[in-house]
Amino acid sequence: MSNNNIQIFDTTLRDGEQVPGCKLNSEQKVLIAAQLDLLGVDVIEAGFPVSSPGDFKSVEAISKIVKNATVCGLTRAVENDIKVAAQSLQYAKRGRIHTGIGTSDSHILHKFKSNREAIIERAFEAVKYAKSFVEDVEFYAEDAGRTENEYLARVCEAAIKAGATVLNIPDTTGYCLPSEYGAKIKYLKENVKGIEKAILSCHCHNDLGLATANSIEGVINGARQIECTINGIGERAGNTALEEVVMVLKQHPYLNLDTNINTSMLFGMSQLVSDSMGIYTQPNKAIVGANAFAHSSGIHQDGVIKNRATYEIIDPKDVGVTESAIVLTARSGRAALAYRAKNVGYELTKLQLDDVYANFLSFADRKKEINDSDIHQIIETSKVYQQIISA
Ligand code: KIV
Ligand code: ZN
Repeated sequence: MSNNNIQIFDTTLRDGEQVPGCKLNSEQKVLIAAQLDLLGVDVIEAGFPVSSPGDFKSVEAISKIVKNATVCGLTRAVENDIKVAAQSLQYAKRGRIHTGIGTSDSHILHKFKSNREAIIERAFEAVKYAKSFVEDVEFYAEDAGRTENEYLARVCEAAIKAGATVLNIPDTTGYCLPSEYGAKIKYLKENVKGIEKAILSCHCHNDLGLATANSIEGVINGARQIECTINGIGERAGNTALEEVVMVLKQHPYLNLDTNINTSMLFGMSQLVSDSMGIYTQPNKAIVGANAFAHSSGIHQDGVIKNRATYEIIDPKDVGVTESAIVLTARSGRAALAYRAKNVGYELTKLQLDDVYANFLSFADRKKEINDSDIHQIIETSKVYQQIISA
């Protein structure tokens, strides 16, 4: 792995699956994991094995079929969780235990009714115990986003001393600003003793719509792993969307940070996850939404027909979308109508187009979107129809 390679840790099947209303069966999880492996993710967080027998079985089944990615299981800083996770990962070519504990004062006081020193001790012991099963142990400091940096650095040092290979710095509540999250990663990089022995990982939630921006600030400031989900699904407002961070890094090559993702699979992957989970993707979702490459206003359509790059920063083929869509509505102009008419077999002269366009507008005012069969009807009912077909 080059120092500029950003590891993609997919948690669709763990944090993503926690989304209300979603229930995937084991076969669906295995299918998604196989596709994630082909997509090129570096780590698949397959579940939280101690949480239920079904989750245990899924993590075990995924461990058996994944060929390239590391398979990871989540635990609390609890011995039995860790032991069970290790059992579920026993068939993995590369297995990782992801253990951790809340580190913000809010978690320490209210969740654990404990104190800072005792939490450091538990973090150390959990990593040490996980290390007795697998070499690759990731430690998470839950609610790191709201944890004071100096204390967080001490927790991270203890985890590294116990053998952690990855330090996950979750903005669990999606509270941080990008500058704040970036500064946190920079602080840890510069102040944690032994940090060269581990990589820092960004795990950002989207409560303020900042998950992607925060993850990108994290890697700009030295993190080398991003934890994310397909379509950004997850608890509350969700997690960092895999397709977004991957495309941000691809479209900004001067950052000199890359991933191993085969981006042409992104759209198909999004559909597979959305269909399997029964969770509809909003049409304006960046990269994979139905409207991400659709143009409906006349000014934009005219530009895109002349040159796609006028209004598109991504070639749709790069993410597995066959082509940009020119959507006909009452806001569309002549260029778009001529383009779509040509696609269904009518080459219109400028004068014919003027007449057909007037007919189109009255049609479009009555109907939200004009489809190919409407175009035939519009042309057939225009005054110049005979002229068009006899040309
Ligand atoms: O958001 C979070 O803090 C988590 C941890 C359990 C890794 O999902
Ligand atoms: Zn999370």
